[in-house]
Amino acid sequence: MKILLTGGAGYIGSHTAVTLSAEGLEPVVLDNFSNSHPVVMERLAHLCGGPLTLEQGDVLDTPWLTGVLLRHQPVAVVHFAGDKAVGESVAQPLKYFHNNIGGAVSLMRAMVQAVAEGGWPRPPALVFSSSATVYGDPATVPITEDFPRSHTNPYGHTKLVIEDMLSAQHAADPSWRVGVLRYFNPVGAHPSGLIGEDPDGMPNNLMPFVAQVAIGRRPHLSVFGNDYPTPDGTGVRDYIHVMDLASGHVAAVRALLAKPGSFTVNLGTGQGHSVLDMVRAFERASGRPVPYRIAPRRAGDVAQCWADPGRARTLLGWQATRSLDDMCADAWRWQSGNPNGYRSP
Ligand code: NAD
Ligand code: UFG
Repeated sequence: MKILLTGGAGYIGSHTAVTLSAEGLEPVVLDNFSNSHPVVMERLAHLCGGPLTLEQGDVLDTPWLTGVLLRHQPVAVVHFAGDKAVGESVAQPLKYFHNNIGGAVSLMRAMVQAVAEGGWPRPPALVFSSSATVYGDPATVPITEDFPRSHTNPYGHTKLVIEDMLSAQHAADPSWRVGVLRYFNPVGAHPSGLIGEDPDGMPNNLMPFVAQVAIGRRPHLSVFGNDYPTPDGTGVRDYIHVMDLASGHVAAVRALLAKPGSFTVNLGTGQGHSVLDMVRAFERASGRPVPYRIAPRRAGDVAQCWADPGRARTLLGWQATRSLDDMCADAWRWQSGNPNGYRSP
């Protein structure tokens, strides 16, 4: 049973590919390597016991994508491909509307086309990478899926629009099966240390930055604000091990294949940790100091954000199992074994 992973060479896609393969499913990786490195395919071959099929190309290319669906006949598609840097989305909104919304439209049209041509005789099943960013600044925590949605930047806006497009398509054609997964804060790496998060340039997110400070690539971490209404004043998030997130995708695919319908679920642990909790956990895991300085708040940040993961447990039979120490130990194994990510000599 093939599963097509758009953006399958990226951070979350590559971990999901390994997990699907370990579960006896056959991932087909589709990527244009705009934010990933082809070396990941060699690492995936090693972890999966043989090379994975790669379709190198752009999700914006609808006719090509239709051909990919007809050629591989996947039982489901997981749509990871897209741009994800919040700050860049503010500076270049059109890039995000084009690639993220345009990419989702292109994929959905290709799926409709493949079915219409009669060569892909199955109910379309699509899992979509959404984000806790759709909750904007939540009034309370933990966050359930029926909290009001809003957006504070063009990246978040694209996630909201794509969620709405998916529900409109499901309403128009109820044979579509759609799983919307709202990720909280994915961190960590595969326990082998062979694949992990490899940001290009200055990391935007906390954990890759902390890892780069621990390895000595950067002198110190800037902690964005210590005057939030949280126990230690720093921002609180729901950090989830990327391998737990990956198994959430397997559970979502299985649920979509098992019965008709659509769902939206949070993928989080249900626990919040502060920036300083993360610094201390990383110091423990790495045995290295992580010097930090308190800096002004980052525009657009919320004080706290963590999930109520109950719906995923009930609907998918899934829950996160890995601890903060697992997240940091695995992130450190990846970072110390690959100090320059996939570009290491
Ligand atoms: P990533 O950048 O590592 O992976 C995305 C992959 O998509 C990359 O390999 C990139 O080359 C590819 N891609 C981008 N545009 C493409 C296109 N037009 N055609 C083909 N391939 C294309 O990102 P990630 O962290 O793995 O995130 C995956 C998805 O999850 C994204 O949609 C992201 O918005 C979402 N998400 C990520 C986080 C997070 O913190 N990492 C949180 C919530 C949601
Ligand atoms: N932080 C720092 N210093 C840094 C980076 C981050 O103190 O150098 C703090 C932030 O202020 C925040 C916490 O660390 O309190 C986490 O920040 P991240 O940038 O790692 O994560 P965010 O929660 O801000 O955003 C992430 C993704 C978004 C996604 C959101 C919810 O980047 O795309 O999670 O899923 F929408």
